[in-house]
Amino acid sequence: MSFSYKEQICRWAWYEAPVVGSTNDEIKKWDKDRFPVILSAVKQTGGKGRRGRKWQSVEGNLYFTYSEEIEPSELSRFVCLIGLSLAKTVIKLSLKADVKIKWPNDVFLAHKKLSGILIENISDNLWAIGIGVNIKGAPQIYDMPYQATSLADNGIELDRIEFLKAYFKQYSRDLMVYREEGFGRLKEEWLSLALNLNQEITIKNDEKSQKGMFLTLDDNGYLILKTEDKEERIIAGDLFIS
Ligand code: BTN
Repeated sequence: MSFSYKEQICRWAWYEAPVVGSTNDEIKKWDKDRFPVILSAVKQTGGKGRRGRKWQSVEGNLYFTYSEEIEPSELSRFVCLIGLSLAKTVIKLSLKADVKIKWPNDVFLAHKKLSGILIENISDNLWAIGIGVNIKGAPQIYDMPYQATSLADNGIELDRIEFLKAYFKQYSRDLMVYREEGFGRLKEEWLSLALNLNQEITIKNDEKSQKGMFLTLDDNGYLILKTEDKEERIIAGDLFIS
């Protein structure tokens, strides 16, 4: 794979490749002495989504992965924080009000999925945070339970690199708030953008499917589901409208 160094973005060294299989897979092979890094790609030939799904490449869309050190006990809060920063970037750049976050961290625009995040472990506390944002077009073959959209579909003409830089500015700010004040304020912001809050939802994961009311997030970023007889803490899964 060929790639070139572009510039420093906040504390990360940013590299770009014209084409890779998956930016997540690539970064996991890199020498850790180079970290913290961002790897973006113009095109992915084997883009990966959550739960074994594929992430299709559309010309002009944004694909990138960055390295981050995260204590295992903080991972679930980071999962929400990253989604929140991504949603806030979309709001800032598009000035659209109908930006929502589907738990844990899919960003929706006008009720359709705009971006997705795949977080994978590299080693110990090192994580690969992979983000795909539909800037110019929504994938046509899309094996997801929701429809996809793009910024362009919503009349927002942006360059993928402009978005990339704005994301890191927002993420660095949100991370500072998290480090200085804890998760509280970010959790409230997350909840104010949550899709399907206080609604009947179904959460599906490999083990089971559970129905209930989406009550809130707890202080770890886990979803609290009110089922008929109790409140369940949901750690992982896909959220569907019941
Ligand atoms: C999802 O919503 O299922 C997560 C999608 C994550 C896609 C991004 S694109 C950049 C990075 N490289 C990958 O192979 N996947 C992530």
